[in-house]
Amino acid sequence: MKYRVGVIGGGQLARMMTVPAINLGIDLKVLAETANSSANLATTVVGDYTDLKTVMDFAKHVDVITFDHEHVPLHILEAVEAAGISVQPPSKALAHAQNKLVMRKALEAIGAPNPRWLAVSSASELHAFIAEFGPEVVVKTPIGGYDGKGVRVVSSSSQVSDWFEPAALSSLGGQLLAEEKVSFTRELAQLSARNPSGEFRAWPVVETRQKNGVCSEVLAPAPNLSNELAEKAKQIAELISSSLGVTGNLAVEMFETTDGKLLVNELAMRPHNSGHFSIEASTTSQFEQHLRAVLDLPLGETTVAEPSVMVNLLGVSDEVDFVENYPEVMKQFASAKLHSYGKSPRIGRKLGHITVVGGTQESALDTALKARALILGVR
Ligand SMILES: Nc1ncnc2c1ncn2[C@@H]1O[C@H](COP(=O)(O)OP(=O)(O)O)[C@@H](O)[C@H]1O
Ligand SMILES: [Mg+2]
Repeated sequence: MKYRVGVIGGGQLARMMTVPAINLGIDLKVLAETANSSANLATTVVGDYTDLKTVMDFAKHVDVITFDHEHVPLHILEAVEAAGISVQPPSKALAHAQNKLVMRKALEAIGAPNPRWLAVSSASELHAFIAEFGPEVVVKTPIGGYDGKGVRVVSSSSQVSDWFEPAALSSLGGQLLAEEKVSFTRELAQLSARNPSGEFRAWPVVETRQKNGVCSEVLAPAPNLSNELAEKAKQIAELISSSLGVTGNLAVEMFETTDGKLLVNELAMRPHNSGHFSIEASTTSQFEQHLRAVLDLPLGETTVAEPSVMVNLLGVSDEVDFVENYPEVMKQFASAKLHSYGKSPRIGRKLGHITVVGGTQESALDTALKARALILGVR
């Protein structure tokens, strides 16, 4: 027999699933957007994931459908489920990772800690929210945002007047999400996995550092986190995954607030940038765990023996491919684990990452930052 997994989306997350799929002898198929996708190492079908027939034809040849991103329209996934094909996470759960308003409502209903928030459908409603929680608040498009696109810090409703234009607003579902601007000391992420049988395992909580709304560095485990908050983060993840019926990986992005609490920022139900450290630093990588979980196999240990640091490699030009700098970086930083996503370079694009495991967290961070500067050719 063969385990057959179909991944929708051909980005780096699908690409990094190919390694454990090879190791476990899992047949991995990818429905990619383009022929030269990051994941084209697996058997790849090129097609439009918003087209029902394309997704249905792809799904017929696998045991389970899972994801590299959360953008597949729910009605398509519901049709796949109705045809008796396993979708993990199921459409009902994935809805919370697709729409931040759906997520806020559900988190409130299950008692997970939200920032103060409101669904607003007009400038005057936003104005009232700013008057109560300002001077600055955060406004988000409920759907379609990523890497800080769709998130604005505003002190006046005029700063999101483009989102209130009737056509824009209706394409966003008729409402925007307004949130208090949380006063936080740092951002954390709790990555976990759950299989359909209900087994749950979590990795240690990590600290994530964003630049311009994009993840830049991840420190695993989060340095100097109290046992109490670490335990709390795990409980929040377990509550969310069991209450919402999440299967596969769940990343819970959180704020550690200045008054020592945790608040949930957002959810992802797939491998997540905050978990790339696990490839080298954990007994079971997030990519292997996701495959095991969606196939309803028993989960692997999530032990992390040594501190590690992951830094993203974001494109600094539209021409230079950092792979050209391998010889020099490998020579100077023999402990750095280099990852390329095989994408053509573009300014700001996530092209790869570097992980350094072991030593102290400070030394790992220092090495990772120096290796990044050298490989990208920046100071
Ligand atoms: N309510 C908030 N208060 C303060 N900062 C926020 C808030 N919401 C988001 N941010 C900041 O904006 C970043 C991106 O927001 P997020 O909702 O995670 O959007 P994305 O989907 O683009 O990742 C967060 O990582 C955080 O740094
Ligand atoms: Mg985010």
